[in-house]
Amino acid sequence: MDTLQPAVDAEKLQSFMGKLVGDMGAAWSGVMVLIGERLGLFKALAEGGPATSDELAKRTGTAERYVREWLAAQAAAGYVEYSRTTRRFSMTPEQAMALADENSPVYVAAAFDVIKSGYIDEPKVTAAFKTGRGVGWHEHHDCLFRGVERFFRSGYQAHLVQEWIPALDGVAAKLARGAKVADVGCGHGVSTALMAKAFPNSRFVGYDYHKESIERARAAAAEAGLANATFEVATAKNFPGRDFDLIACFDALHDMGDPEGAAAHIRTALKPDGTFMLVEPFAHDDVADNLNPVGRLYYSGSTMICTPASLAQEVGLGLGAQAGEARLRAVVTAAGFTRFRRAAETAFNLILEARP
Ligand SMILES: C[S@@+](CC[C@H](N)C(=O)[O-])C[C@H]1O[C@@H](n2cnc3c(N)ncnc32)[C@H](O)[C@@H]1O
Repeated sequence: MDTLQPAVDAEKLQSFMGKLVGDMGAAWSGVMVLIGERLGLFKALAEGGPATSDELAKRTGTAERYVREWLAAQAAAGYVEYSRTTRRFSMTPEQAMALADENSPVYVAAAFDVIKSGYIDEPKVTAAFKTGRGVGWHEHHDCLFRGVERFFRSGYQAHLVQEWIPALDGVAAKLARGAKVADVGCGHGVSTALMAKAFPNSRFVGYDYHKESIERARAAAAEAGLANATFEVATAKNFPGRDFDLIACFDALHDMGDPEGAAAHIRTALKPDGTFMLVEPFAHDDVADNLNPVGRLYYSGSTMICTPASLAQEVGLGLGAQAGEARLRAVVTAAGFTRFRRAAETAFNLILEARP
């Protein structure tokens, strides 16, 4: 009997399998990068110059047999170079920026700690698919919190003070003179600390419902000697304080169960001429326009982290990490803000300005 299976195009199958083999290798690359980061292998290769596995093992105090295998995996991935003639491995300046220099604006190694949390917490999220219940931000493995801190830092360090704040109407001047600022859903407080350092005349307070994140933010601020930044455990709907000149929310509003309620509370806590800076993952309004590498990253992260986080809280709106400007505008204007505009953007972020 004839099969009802549609005919398979052998060439298309070959090409799809090729893509999947690439993705399987990429999935392994995550843990390879984390090992390279933890042991300083990328840094030692980038800073010390071309090396054999033996030389790199000596530079890093690691076992040569492991380093040999790891280096071959990195070269196969295109993360380091290999010379057939010298038999040495090396890194180009571009590879070094992304993987060996944590102060570079494109340092991405820490992103794999975020992805690692997805693998570790997969059983919780798989179970939630069945029940429809949420998985709270705080219920994840702590590699998520450290990963977000270190991965997001690269972008914030490159853009926040230099581009995003100046893109807001009149805000840079207010902060330079001395203003009152809240960072809601501040996590480990990287954004709060960057602003506090840049604007010493202003006072900053970071709020987050996750106690461990607030403790980490306090410790980091103390270590950096920041006298104008404090951190408090509070939710976006009950944080104390009034008359803020600026309230910012970095990559956090879509993680909340009730983003409209949060935005309404933010509006009441602002001065009448204050500003709400909403930083959200870059997204177009139509899902069809987000089906690209950045969208792939965000929809995956959103499935594992952001959507479950929102579903775990009251209201459980589940905006997702690819809400897009139109949806965010609807949430923020429903909360009572009358003005809303896109102030800036990068490949990864939308910077939206809302005014009461
Ligand atoms: C993706 S993280 C971003 C952290 C930080 N803003 C950053 O950019 O590094 C989202 C943060 O929102 C916080 N969060 C989620 N729901 C919250 C709520 N209802 N109130 C306050 N914070 C909340 C989480 O605890 C988490 O720290």
